[in-house]
Amino acid sequence: MPVKACVFDAYGTLFDVAGAARIAAAEPSAAAWSGRWPQIAESWRRKQLEYTWLRACAGAHTDFWQVTCDGLDWALEAAGLDGDVALRAHLLALYRTLPAYGEVPQTLARLRAAGLPCAILSNGNPPMLAEAVASAGIGQHLAAVISVEDAGVFKPHPRVYALIERALVLPPHEVAFVSSNCWDACAAAGFGLTAVWVNRDGAPMDRLHARPAHVLCDLSPLPELVSRL
Ligand code: LAC
Repeated sequence: MPVKACVFDAYGTLFDVAGAARIAAAEPSAAAWSGRWPQIAESWRRKQLEYTWLRACAGAHTDFWQVTCDGLDWALEAAGLDGDVALRAHLLALYRTLPAYGEVPQTLARLRAAGLPCAILSNGNPPMLAEAVASAGIGQHLAAVISVEDAGVFKPHPRVYALIERALVLPPHEVAFVSSNCWDACAAAGFGLTAVWVNRDGAPMDRLHARPAHVLCDLSPLPELVSRL
């Protein structure tokens, strides 16, 4: 059965979540902590995701901006930087306009030229996603930007993946769901989507209830892959 649309996770898949800490660390005012930016970026992301999973389990939903702030607060305290109010504000501002990975615009353009509608399905709330899409200049390639806010729960709750069928009017197996978050690709596969894991870091496969059908190193080979499905 051919794939008729591609739906992308946003943070980590299209947008480089380490970008905010990396960019801030390159500025002269960051001398005191710049050598530790990778740990700060890693713990910020890890806590942000943990809080989404915990809130989904606990039935205590809030939006992704709140867990992004909460994750950063944890990371800054762990790094002994929690008193730096200006740094916190700067990192959060940079997070609103994260850089896209280099291959993203061209990959989306190639998919669109091949007649495949592309969309985003993300934990991000609509204003965050709108800002990130606009600053990356990829809006013209996207047929839809779907936020978990329409389901009122974070990934990997099945209600989230069900939003795709509602938005695109396609059954799950006719949609390629592309994520660099392995757990997200696994959950999408379990839901019945044609899941593609973008394994940018060469990580082991997560041991979960389902596995993505396809694994790529970055997004560049995606147009060829979906043309063969
Ligand atoms: C998202 C998170 C999982 O964009 O990266 O949904």
